[in-house]
Amino acid sequence: MYSPPDGISRSAKRRKLRLMCIDLTSDIEKNDEENILTKYEFADIKDSCKIEYNGESIEFNVKQLIYLNKLGEGSFGLVHLVKLENHPNVKFACKRLTLEHDGYQNYSSQSDLKAMRTVGNDRHPHIVCYYGALIDDGQLIICMEPLETSMDKFYPILHSQFHPTAILLDKFIRRLAKHIVLGLNYLKSKNLIHRDVKPQNMLVANNVIFKLCDFGICGTLKDSISSTHLGSMRYLPPERLGNICSYGTRSDMWALGMSLLEVSQGYLPLSSESIMSFMSHMKNDWQPDIPTTLSQQTRDLISILLERDVNQRPRYYNDILSMPSMTTLEQNPSEDERNLIENILKSLPIPTPE
Ligand SMILES: Nc1ncnc2c1ncn2[C@@H]1O[C@H](COP(=O)(O)OP(=O)(O)OP(=O)(O)O)[C@@H](O)[C@H]1O
Ligand SMILES: [Mg+2]
Repeated sequence: MYSPPDGISRSAKRRKLRLMCIDLTSDIEKNDEENILTKYEFADIKDSCKIEYNGESIEFNVKQLIYLNKLGEGSFGLVHLVKLENHPNVKFACKRLTLEHDGYQNYSSQSDLKAMRTVGNDRHPHIVCYYGALIDDGQLIICMEPLETSMDKFYPILHSQFHPTAILLDKFIRRLAKHIVLGLNYLKSKNLIHRDVKPQNMLVANNVIFKLCDFGICGTLKDSISSTHLGSMRYLPPERLGNICSYGTRSDMWALGMSLLEVSQGYLPLSSESIMSFMSHMKNDWQPDIPTTLSQQTRDLISILLERDVNQRPRYYNDILSMPSMTTLEQNPSEDERNLIENILKSLPIPTPE
């Protein structure tokens, strides 16, 4: 039986750099004080749990988890596809988060679980579903629905092997935008902001459904602002760089705009620049160079999300949903969209146990 490596990985270095470069203002400290007694405790989480799976109630413990292959890895956790001993047809994704008392990882696991319980139970079509959680050997295991892959692995194959027509790529970008906006709007209805919107946190399902995942640094929306951000620097809006200022819905909108630009052109803007030079361009003079092969409506959508002046970005997600690029998108994906997604998913490297 394959055993997962422990949750500590090479990405710890990346995380450290990320934490060093971003202002860590009052939210975490305030939360530390408020939650000092409960923060590291998951009193109701044990080494076994009960989940609802396709209408069936299944109880299992950590020893019954059979790790099949790695689905992905982020700065905070490893995610594996897992099946259950004695239940060969039950498969789910397990994210392991270390519960060491080193502050930020705990912040992540606490926040991930809390947000997953708040939003992942409602079976929203554009939020990854939460099944349950367990504790195993100092690690929190979050069980959720498994999707085929994430957008960061999907779009390089889209561009390098499939070369979709301009019309098909345009439809694909609008579909992705719509699904993620619906997911973000749902989070907002629960008073949450995601704070780490990027292709790695957008999952892809075979039936042309895109979902948001990774609620590790999700924050509570207090009057639409939250003063702490720990997300990826390359998706931070200009107003956040080097400044202590609020992170709100419009910062998630910028990160969405950046992600859509990245997916539509096949690479992140200024990706070859060092992080310092990237931040300096972003803060001072960067303007998006949106592919002219996209329709004017899609370009309008990306450019309003990437407005340098935060006040020029849309105020509400419904403002985005009522833009022509969204309203003119057919409700159901077309045959060519379905085929594209299906064929790209078939071309992904075969996962191996890692
Ligand atoms: N339910 C899922 N189904 C399929 N793959 C998943 C699932 N959840 C996560 N993944 C994969 O695992 C990767 C890491 O997961 P996740 O983003 O939750 O971890 P993280 O450590 O919090 O990441 P980050 O570096 O963004 O903070 C994702 O980018 C994705 O490729
Ligand atoms: Mg992630």
